Amino acid sequence: MNRFPTEWLRLREPFDHAARSTALIETLLDILPASRPLRILELAAGLGSGMRFLAPLLPTPQHWTMIDHDPALLASIGQPPTNKITLETLEFDLRELDKLNFSTDLVSTQALLDLVSDDWLESLVNRLADQSIPILAALTVDGRVRWSPEDPKDAEIQQAFRAHQTSDRGFGPSVGTRATLELERLLSARNYTIIRKQADWSIAPAFARILKELVDGTAEAAMEACSNITTTKTVTGWHRRRRAAIASGDLSLQVGHLDLLALPSN
Ligand SMILES: C[S@@+](CC[C@H](N)C(=O)[O-])C[C@H]1O[C@@H](n2cnc3c(N)ncnc32)[C@H](O)[C@@H]1O
Repeated sequence: MNRFPTEWLRLREPFDHAARSTALIETLLDILPASRPLRILELAAGLGSGMRFLAPLLPTPQHWTMIDHDPALLASIGQPPTNKITLETLEFDLRELDKLNFSTDLVSTQALLDLVSDDWLESLVNRLADQSIPILAALTVDGRVRWSPEDPKDAEIQQAFRAHQTSDRGFGPSVGTRATLELERLLSARNYTIIRKQADWSIAPAFARILKELVDGTAEAAMEACSNITTTKTVTGWHRRRRAAIASGDLSLQVGHLDLLALPSN
């Protein structure tokens, strides 16, 4: 199983929440049922960050089904924000999407879609469209990354990093940074109305811990993908300079993400 460390998910949560679009939620409110408890399916729930962002913005009562294949993450989700919100956890491998019960008013997900394959996205769209279910797919990386100050090797390192993002991360070759636009294309073909907003992380120099994680993660991925794009020496040099810039309080980072809301036509 491809595991996501608890510490990483906790570290990114405030940046995720600061980045997510609230304009999309206002549109979503118009189409959700008001006369009965809301049912929400959270795909790849992790530690529940997506629920903690969205639940306070939706009418109550709500019932959330939190799905993930990692039981340790599900066990650490904790309590919902209010007693008008109930949660159940479901340990489930999303590769078996055809076996998942989609009795829900909304499918929600956060930071999942770049991991999945083109085929998986197509299956998801078929399941949604067959039952006219809306989806809110938040915080999918879109490939825009801006380090400041710039380094002469940023572009090369980023190219290697992007190549790594299309490797198999559990679902077959990943759709990577194409994910949101591909989802949009598939849902539009099933007559969904799409609204898309940028939801970028802006990380100031003071947030050294997450900057270190991102610099280390970028260097590690670039190293794995390096043979035909860059060299070990280039990655090592870039990594050392970026670590030094964090230590001197000079590095900031913008990471591009997209939030997408898709509403069925009926
Ligand atoms: C980047 S994390 C995002 C977690 C959470 N949505 C958040 O934003 O904090 C990706 C999540 O996908 C889950 N995941 C990856 N592959 C999965 C699979 N095949 N089935 C179910 N969950 C999976 C991981 O366990 C992890 O919780």
